[in-house]
Amino acid sequence: MSILKVSRMGHPVLRQKARPLERSEIRDPRFQKLLDDMIATMHEYNGVGLAGPQVHEGLRVFVAMLDSGDDAEASVIINPVITPLDKQVVEGWEGCLSIPEIRGRVPRAHKIVVKALDRDGRGVEIEAEDFPARVIQHETDHLDGVLFLDRMGSMASLTYLDEYARYHARDNDD
Ligand code: NI
Repeated sequence: MSILKVSRMGHPVLRQKARPLERSEIRDPRFQKLLDDMIATMHEYNGVGLAGPQVHEGLRVFVAMLDSGDDAEASVIINPVITPLDKQVVEGWEGCLSIPEIRGRVPRAHKIVVKALDRDGRGVEIEAEDFPARVIQHETDHLDGVLFLDRMGSMASLTYLDEYARYHARDNDD
């Protein structure tokens, strides 16, 4: 496995719309290696999610830690389509490996269902609420060239990581 270079804000790939994958591409060993490399890269940088454009691949795929627990495995989500399951919108802290050392509060749908393909090309439907729902929305945004800063209702909560740890980590309410 390889640790991949993560694209940072300002790189055009983060602002482009990624393209869907065909089932035959998903089975390609090179694509399977990309998935393993994305998972290794996410763990290397202590991320909870990593999308194709963040490793310079304009493909509709992301990897994410959606299950809690110490032995939880990374999920692979391909060609995701999100539908909100209720009208509730909740604000919570987000960060992004492409925007290092920055945190901000972002409103997101509280409960969603995502239809996608898994790493074997099988159709999956995942219901999620609260933090995993937030991660899925953040990563799916990457596939459309959208960054969490674009989703913030106000820039007033924007903070550096040190200041986040000092002043805001305990008011995490999600
Ligand atoms: Ni991100």
